[in-house]
This record gives sequence, C-alpha cells and structure tokens, in this order.
Amino acid sequence: MLVRRCAVLLIEPREELGLDLQSMFSGGSALTATMHWVALAPHLDREVTLAADDVALLGSVGQTVWQQRAALEQQYGADIVARLLDHGLLVGDARLGAQESELSPELAHWRERDDTLRAQHWRPLSAVAHIYSRWRGMQSESGMQFPTFDDLVKEYGQPPSPAVERGGASDAIALPAPAADALDDLLLRRYTGRNFDTTAQVPLALAARLLQRTFGAQDQRMMAPDAYVLKKTSPSAGGLHPCEAYVLAQRIDGVAPGLYHYHAVNHVLEPVQALTVDEARQLALVAVADQQWFADAPIMVIVAARVFRNFWKYRNHAKAHRALLLDAGHLSQTLYLLATEAGLAGFVTAAINEVELEQALGLDPLTDAVIAVCGCGPAGPGDYVELRNAT
Ligand SMILES: Cc1cc2nc3c(=O)[nH]c(=O)nc-3n(C[C@H](O)[C@H](O)[C@H](O)COP(=O)(O)O)c2cc1C
Repeated sequence: MLVRRCAVLLIEPREELGLDLQSMFSGGSALTATMHWVALAPHLDREVTLAADDVALLGSVGQTVWQQRAALEQQYGADIVARLLDHGLLVGDARLGAQESELSPELAHWRERDDTLRAQHWRPLSAVAHIYSRWRGMQSESGMQFPTFDDLVKEYGQPPSPAVERGGASDAIALPAPAADALDDLLLRRYTGRNFDTTAQVPLALAARLLQRTFGAQDQRMMAPDAYVLKKTSPSAGGLHPCEAYVLAQRIDGVAPGLYHYHAVNHVLEPVQALTVDEARQLALVAVADQQWFADAPIMVIVAARVFRNFWKYRNHAKAHRALLLDAGHLSQTLYLLATEAGLAGFVTAAINEVELEQALGLDPLTDAVIAVCGCGPAGPGDYVELRNAT
C-alpha cells in the first residue's frame, strides 16, 4: 500500500498549565507547564495529540509523493504508521496497490476528506484558521459570555482611545464639515437592532426586495466562454461573489417557517428544511449562540461562502480567505442599509454556531464556509436597545 501525509498539517507545541501545591508550600512556583504536540489538520475537524515519534515521522513524509508503507514501517515501526493512518494524518490509496484488507472504511473516509480539502485549493493557514475557529454548542451555559463595558473596564482597565493622532497634530489639515445630503439620512439612521418585534410579519414584497438588492444578481457578465461573474450591489473580490445566502424564515408573509437557499440569479427561495415555528426560533437561537436579542428577527440570513468559487482563481492564495470575510461584511452592510430604508432594524454577528448551521444546511465546512449571520425586522416597543454586548 502507498501512503503520503495529509495535505494540510500544522503541529502546535501546546502548553498546559497546572497547579503544583506541594511545590508552592515548599517555596517553589505553584504553576507547572506541561508541553505536548497537537496536530491541526482541517480535514479531520478535530485535534490530535501527538508523541515525539509521530512528529518525527510526519516531518519526514511529504504530502505529494506516495511512498511504500512497508518502507516507512521498516524505518519507524508498524505501530506508529498504523496509528497515524487511523488518525488520518497519513493517508493511503486504494487505487495504488493497497490490499483489500488494508482498506478499512476509516482509511477510505480520511482519504476522501483529504481529497476534498485538496480540491478546494485552500491556503493551509486559512484552512486551519477557518476549521478550528468554528463553534459547536456554544451557549451561555457553555461559555458564551455577555460582559458589559463596566465589567470589561474592571477586568482589563481602560480600552485604547477611540481615535488616535498620527504625525504632528500641528500639521493636520482641517477638513470642511461634510454637506448634508439624502444618503446621510440612511447612513445615520442605521443601527444594530436588539429588540425585534416578536409578532411582526415581514411582507413578502419587502423580503424579496431585501434579498434581491442585497444578495441577488443585478447583472451577469460572461468573462470568457462559459465563465460568468455576477454584478451585485456590494463589491466582491474578483467579481466572483462566492457568498451564498441561506434564509432562516420565521415570519415572512407567504413563506412557511424554515431554512431556504436564496438563488442569486433566479430570485427564488429554494426550500432546504421545513421547520415548525418553535423549531425555527430554536435554530435561530442556536445560530447566534444564545443571543436572544437577535433570535426573534423574522428574517435571518446565514452567509456561507462556496470557497472554490473564489479559490478557483485565488489558489492557495494568502489573501483569498480574507477576501471571503470582506465580501460577507459588505453584504451585511448592504442589508443593514436596505433594512434601514424600509424602517427595519438590522444586525450582523460572527458569534455563531457554525457547526450546527452546517448540519442544518447540509454544508461541508471544507467546501462551504459559514461566515456570519445577519438579519433584520421591525423593532419592538422601546425600539433602540443600547449596546451591551458588542463583540
Ligand atoms: C463583525 C461584527 C460582529 C458583530 N457581532 C455582534 C454580536 O455578536 N452581538 C451583538 O450584539 N452585536 C454584534 N455586532 C454589532 C456591533 O455590536 C455594532 O455594530 C456596534 O455596537 C455598533 O453599533 P451600531 O451598529 O448600532 O452602530 C457585530 C458587528 C460586526 C460588524
């Protein structure tokens, strides 16, 4: 059987701190530090603790050229090779001389996950950053905290000043005050809503406008034979618009509660999962990691990038993942402004449970990166809720 290393692997020397009371009572340091190696390999979606032998072997096997398993076993021992294959850090190939008995379903699974990762052309650091920054099961009880500014100042002292001088203040060029214009009204009324009306329905025509003007194609251009880009109201790196909008509908006239995919060109909502009213509210709460102040928004949009739509052009590119995040940010601001124009409050958050959203939407995080959740709706009585929980 032939083997090689998985495509993307970062090995972190991790420090684990502990308390040594005995040492403390005898005048020594109470703090102990234990070191161990941790493998971060995005196709696994979990961390693996490594022994020094594992690190040595992984450092000697490349991710491109296939090698004979037997030769590696001779050099490092059969146990370690088997262990790293089981963990998915080494991958084997069925088509490259493997015996039937060597091809367990686990080995085939890791091979397939590794192939999926390779096919996307992620920059290795970006793949690690994305996969290992996702939340699952994050809620108030499991660590989602909502400190007030007072709490933060007590804990960390004053924050850095809100604005900063660079260069000589005496050389600063005084600028004229901007003239008021029509766009000001929209820009200055935009705010993050944390107090949605729990009963208000959004008319279908308004929901359709919000989706089409934010996430819909305003035009389509053929850049080369059968190679299209979309024109939207927000900019996108390379004009590729990899961000897809998945709508979690709670109260849109004529649209049953559930998850939908918004088709940017056809301007239709494609049903993904029907939900009861309670299930939709519960999924909304899970989506925003227990931030109840967002969970009643009648329209939520989960923004998830089809990474290969961008990485097709920006292969293994240092800036590509950053471009996906910027694209999602632009879309959310456009939704905010359209919501403001319609007299609705908007929001965006990155404090989200990506894993539960991937599961609900049937998305693979290696191919479709859930980035943010935004939404909007009519404000409830009392209207503006002052910032308490900004992240
Ligand atoms: C990337 C990003 C993430 C945010 N995440 C949260 C969040 O998790 N919870 C929240 O209440 N607000 C969140 N906000 C909203 C900000 O707190 C808000 O924009 C900020 O307080 C300024 O208020 P304004 O939008 O009303 O001007 C987020 C905003 C951005 C741009």
